[in-house]
Amino acid sequence: MASSNWVPGDIDVRPLSSAMGAEVRGVDLARPLTGAVWNGIRDAFRSYLLLSFPDQSLNETQQIAFSRRFGQLQVHVLDQYRHPEFPEIYLLSNVDRRSGATIGHHPDKGTLVWHSDLSFQRCPALATMLYGLEVPRTGGDTLFADMYAAYDALAETMRKHLAGLRATHDLDFSRQRAGERPMTDRQRRAAPPVDHPMVRTHPETGRRSLYISHHVSRIDGMSDEESQRLLAELMAHATSDRFVYRHQWRKHDLVVWDNRCTMHRATEYDPTAERRIMHRTVVLGDIPV
Ligand code: OGA
Ligand code: MN
Repeated sequence: MASSNWVPGDIDVRPLSSAMGAEVRGVDLARPLTGAVWNGIRDAFRSYLLLSFPDQSLNETQQIAFSRRFGQLQVHVLDQYRHPEFPEIYLLSNVDRRSGATIGHHPDKGTLVWHSDLSFQRCPALATMLYGLEVPRTGGDTLFADMYAAYDALAETMRKHLAGLRATHDLDFSRQRAGERPMTDRQRRAAPPVDHPMVRTHPETGRRSLYISHHVSRIDGMSDEESQRLLAELMAHATSDRFVYRHQWRKHDLVVWDNRCTMHRATEYDPTAERRIMHRTVVLGDIPV
């Protein structure tokens, strides 16, 4: 590249939709990033909430190294999903590692409902990175919703109402409601329910966003019925089309999103006929305020 006028730090950032998200070209995430490229990525991440890097070739170590640029990585409490050699990698796959055959069912139904990663922890996720090793021909898209925009679009009375409210987030409750088997006693002890404000302020942008998730079991201080009614109303609002970007996966996309101001969910695919293998890493963030 010596003869071209390419400048280190140049990255090509193009918006993916009117809602949120951008595609970034001109970066090889398998290699150490220069400070200028890294700053470009962080700026774009702050502005677009989700970045998609097409055509990446990443082994586990390289994905972990890139993820660590954002902060400390999580090792998931659901140990059945841990990569046998790289505990920071959560294997989201419908393919059996030994036989290479499909397992015939969706590997994690908890991903099929709108949520924000690790909202069931005191320190939830800052960012999640998902790398598509094999992706279905049809289905298996991921939907993302902009929770800044959802908050901004709420009526003033609703924003006031939510200002002092907190909600309880509970992984075991959420897994069972999504149709997954209950957690083990050890997992439950490692992930007790926590409560978080329903409106949070982003530590970097200072913007407010609506902080809800399928992991929410109830709103503190409300009856069950009142809680479920308000949560359903907020979910319906927050996931309306105008706030949503749909990611249709291509093999070797690396997508990173900000869980502090977005929600996401997977969509169904045929787990008997299609193969979907994703490597996921999660960066821990701050206590929501
Ligand atoms: C996740 C998740 C969505 C998908 O890995 O946190 O929700 O489309 N995945 O697999
Ligand atoms: Mn998720």
